[in-house]
Amino acid sequence: MEALVICFWGLEDVAAGEVAELLGEKRFRVVGRGRVVFECSPGEFLTLNLGCRTLLRVLVYGGACRVSLGKEGLDEVYRAVREFEWCELFDESFTFAVRTARHGGHSYTSIDVNRVAGQAVVDYFNGRIKVDLRNPDVVVRCYVIDDLFYFGVDTSGASLHKRGYRVYNHPAPLNPVLASCMLKLSRWRCGRSLLDPMCGSGTILIEAGMMALGIPPGSFRRSYPLVRLKPFSGLDVGEELARLRERMSKGRCSPELYGVDVSPKHIQGAVLNAARAGVHTIDFTVGDFLEVYGRYSVDYMVSNPPFGYRSGRRGRIAELYRRLSAALVECVHEGVCVISEAGVAGVFEEELGKHMELTERRVVPYGGLQTKILYFKP
Ligand SMILES: C[S@@+](CC[C@H](N)C(=O)[O-])C[C@H]1O[C@@H](n2cnc3c(N)ncnc32)[C@H](O)[C@@H]1O
Repeated sequence: MEALVICFWGLEDVAAGEVAELLGEKRFRVVGRGRVVFECSPGEFLTLNLGCRTLLRVLVYGGACRVSLGKEGLDEVYRAVREFEWCELFDESFTFAVRTARHGGHSYTSIDVNRVAGQAVVDYFNGRIKVDLRNPDVVVRCYVIDDLFYFGVDTSGASLHKRGYRVYNHPAPLNPVLASCMLKLSRWRCGRSLLDPMCGSGTILIEAGMMALGIPPGSFRRSYPLVRLKPFSGLDVGEELARLRERMSKGRCSPELYGVDVSPKHIQGAVLNAARAGVHTIDFTVGDFLEVYGRYSVDYMVSNPPFGYRSGRRGRIAELYRRLSAALVECVHEGVCVISEAGVAGVFEEELGKHMELTERRVVPYGGLQTKILYFKP
């Protein structure tokens, strides 16, 4: 069996790196933007769903093919889906639904793809399987990205970024999967101090704390749809979580983590989120970082300062980034990793670039924006 994992575009190597850390080296194939395929045993599927911090979703890989942008693309989708041996994963006693994500200019919609792929599955079972769009036993996911089509069977359910520890919702929270990717890119590790000077609801520090304390990211999720599928029916989620906890807690440490935010409300929320995640060691402070930075002397800084995109105040954001850069040069000693909307990220490149070496620059589509993740070494 092969796994198709969905991750952020531009961070496929980070996701593959974490998979290799957890499962050992694999022969990875990047089959498209944010899509990586590799051989995977049933037990490893469970490990990925419970233990991977940088993946959005894990599928049993069905296949891929080129598709035309015109209407004939739908026939190509039908043929590819019809060829797959569905009975290896489920039988006609299951209900199913197809969900499609499409990107690019096609003369068909994602609803057309749902319909055609769904018909191919029904035809495979000679009409003896039922569709249930609201509460299916199995979700078949299709992706049409320009002229490429991929499909597979979902083993994750809700996207893996839904960790289950967020009891307070910040108005512009960072996706925890992206936060984990930034931490991996920054090479921050337990035993080194870490600061998020504009921490909002604390996502980056909570993800760091969970890594340091050996808390698997799947600890708080309650639904595991993969165990319904035939190859996974004997797997024990509780046992695998316990195994992961034990393995991840080898080399655990009590991390030195600092969070600052100008908003008391966000800091209160961050404290609640961190407590829910079981990370009790973060030192959260309310304050304007540009005024209080002199109190901090840390090894790493990982942050997503305001993008300024929604507010449309780009001039003020550029000034904020200039002042933040000057402060970081004073108080961070080993690495600075920052994400920002691509249009204004140049301010960091210019200002931090005067004092530090830019060693990573990733363009990552996120939340309908082009963003840049930048990593600087003093
Ligand atoms: C994009 S949000 C961070 C979201 C956070 N990563 C999360 O997941 O919740 C940016 C945060 O920067 C804070 N902020 C803006 N200017 C600040 C300043 N001068 N000092 C400290 N915090 C600031 C805002 O209050 C906001 O919560």
